[in-house]
Amino acid sequence: MVSAPSLFVTATLLVFIFGCCSTVNAQLSPTFYSKTCPTLLSVVRTTMNQAVTKEPRMGASILRLFFHDCFVNGCDASILLDDTASFTGEKNAGPNQNSVRGFEVIDTIKTSVEAACNATVSCADILALAARDGVVLLGGTSWTVPLGRRDARTASQSAANSNLPSPFADLAALISSFTAKGLTAKDMTVLSGAHTIGQAQCSSFRTRIYNETNIDPGFATTRKASCPASSGNTNLAPFDTTPNGFDNDYYKALVGRRGLLHSDQQLFNNGSQDALVRTYSTNVAAFNRDFAAAMVKMSRISPLLGTNGEIRKNCRLVN
Ligand code: HEM
Repeated sequence: MVSAPSLFVTATLLVFIFGCCSTVNAQLSPTFYSKTCPTLLSVVRTTMNQAVTKEPRMGASILRLFFHDCFVNGCDASILLDDTASFTGEKNAGPNQNSVRGFEVIDTIKTSVEAACNATVSCADILALAARDGVVLLGGTSWTVPLGRRDARTASQSAANSNLPSPFADLAALISSFTAKGLTAKDMTVLSGAHTIGQAQCSSFRTRIYNETNIDPGFATTRKASCPASSGNTNLAPFDTTPNGFDNDYYKALVGRRGLLHSDQQLFNNGSQDALVRTYSTNVAAFNRDFAAAMVKMSRISPLLGTNGEIRKNCRLVN
């Protein structure tokens, strides 16, 4: 006869092995939607292709959107939620307001994905795929995106204000904002290579071009022409000479003391990241390889899994 205690032990073991909660065992996987939404990858790619063809900068904008999603309570599409009378999201946090862009493109992708596979794919996964596609469409190396993230029902403006790195930060602060997310100093330096595409507003680099000394004088003069000392806050400048090309020109700029943001030049300013910046400036293959790996790592920050969160119907609204 089986004793009551041993029955209890067996039952406990069974619950442990087969999982009382899908959440416990759930994990990200590249094949997460292969049965439930087999056309997902091509649907995302088609819309991204249209968006980037229309405006190449959109590849950069979507990449940044993904970074700003992942660094605030994980890659959970919290950045996509609109503010309402009773809900404060992240869109109006300092680093995001009048700066992050691309929400309409994510809406368009979501509409197409819903048409293909109703109520199945999270906005967080759509953003992860769209960011990858934007990089590839601008000439970067591809990577495999792990999938299965779910969408947050909440957002945090205060976490967006405190967790996203400032363009005025020094190296130590930049490193610590990445280590706080489980990323290394090397990850920080290679992910900053995202600034090989896209543009920044005058207000984010004015103090650098007017006040700093570790800057190429000719570069400072050029940038001042379209970023006056006390006007033109929203005027744009490219991060490097090829803002629509995902290449290693950003690192060449840093070595030439032509980093646009104070934070960019911190990566090459007689500090711990100088050697890596030099490597990437001469080895584009190493940059592409390490960037892809670091993007996968960033994409794994605190995902909502299993039955946590939800699959949003509209990326801007909690269901
Ligand atoms: C290391 C710390 C970082 C700081 C301080 C920083 C800061 C900034 C700032 C201030 C801008 C310009 C915003 C504006 O003027 O409106 C910008 C643009 C951009 N950032 Fe970063 N960033 C950092 C890291 C990253 C990372 C890790 C990624 C992605 C992996 C990224 C992707 C981008 C892209 C692609 C743009 C251009 C966006 C566009 O043209 O719309 N950044 N960043």
